[in-house]
Amino acid sequence: MRQTIRQIISRHGRTSAARRFRIAYFATVTIGLVAVVLYTLSGLPDWAHTLTSRTTFVVAALYVVEWLTRIWVAPEGSATPAWRARLRYVLSPAGVSDFAAMLALPIGLNVDLTGDDKSLFCVVWSLKLVRYSEGLAMLGRVIVNQRASLISVLTVFAIVLLLSATLVYVLERHVQPDVFHSIPAAMWWAIVTLTTTGYGDVTPQTVGGRMIAGVVMVSGIAVFAIRAGILANGFSVELRRRDFLRTWDLCSRVPLFRDGGVELIATIVHLLRIDDARPGEVLMRRGQDGDCMYFIVSGRVRVEAGRADIELGPGDFFGEMALLSGDARSATVTVIDTAELLVLDIADFRDLAGKRPDLIRSISEVAQRRGHVTA
Ligand code: CMP
Repeated sequence: MRQTIRQIISRHGRTSAARRFRIAYFATVTIGLVAVVLYTLSGLPDWAHTLTSRTTFVVAALYVVEWLTRIWVAPEGSATPAWRARLRYVLSPAGVSDFAAMLALPIGLNVDLTGDDKSLFCVVWSLKLVRYSEGLAMLGRVIVNQRASLISVLTVFAIVLLLSATLVYVLERHVQPDVFHSIPAAMWWAIVTLTTTGYGDVTPQTVGGRMIAGVVMVSGIAVFAIRAGILANGFSVELRRRDFLRTWDLCSRVPLFRDGGVELIATIVHLLRIDDARPGEVLMRRGQDGDCMYFIVSGRVRVEAGRADIELGPGDFFGEMALLSGDARSATVTVIDTAELLVLDIADFRDLAGKRPDLIRSISEVAQRRGHVTA
């Protein structure tokens, strides 16, 4: 039971229960935050006031349950003693943020810092959105990986900021002594200009000052363009790395590839793409043209091949007959249980036939046997 719950609430859970839990989790955080925000609206009707207040209490109670549950399941899958695994969770950033989320409402109710808005501290619930957000986790990894380049750009930014603020201070201090009276004061203008925000509350008036302003504006655009390029490239590298690792992991779980050794997996990993299919999804229909074949890593599919339905599961493949013969699909294939599939497109199938004829031969043998049954 504890293991099942751990799998459901784990970040990496791939079961449909885990997916449903994540959706419910995001919905709960969102509803809680909306209630906290709406509560601050003046002129809210009484019923809405009561509703937002009760919603906040219910969500806060759920977070107590969540924190205790996470402590309970922490030892699952950990080689360390139970108390140490639990302590590790409690002291981890996620554990601290869960603890803060749990205490936000009780603190708000007991500390007279927030006036009437007792639930104001509950904005820390927004931190919970980080836990299951793959995008934010990836952003963190991109920033860590690209830190050298990002620090260089920030250094250039700081140098341009300081130089331009100093120059404008020198040129403008006698013309506008109340605005450019110090370098820190000139820095406000420099930041607003360098980031191309341009409030226009402070502007240089001397010719020299305006020329510097022009240079700073162009530099600002250049710095942001470089930084955007670094981040975009970092994301692309990280996405490729993540897909590669997952595809490799899935390939090594398909006996047909595993038995061919590392060399085969290294060849095929670049040709396959992942498809996470939902129950009821129709992957191919009888009579359609065939443009790809599938390998099942987990889950099950039903093949409606005329006389009888056939179930295929982990390690099986399908969709190969049309690729081998050039005929239309011989059956309709529908997902029964959530399935992790590896897809091989027809062009890559042909490419593979040249590189690894042994693999295509094994696939053909199975296709021939199936042909006799389905014919
Ligand atoms: P294809 O004809 O490309 O598309 C439908 C797929 O269903 C087919 O390839 C096979 O992979 C699969 N299929 C057809 N008949 C059978 C069978 N008798 N047993 C298992 N799989 C089958």
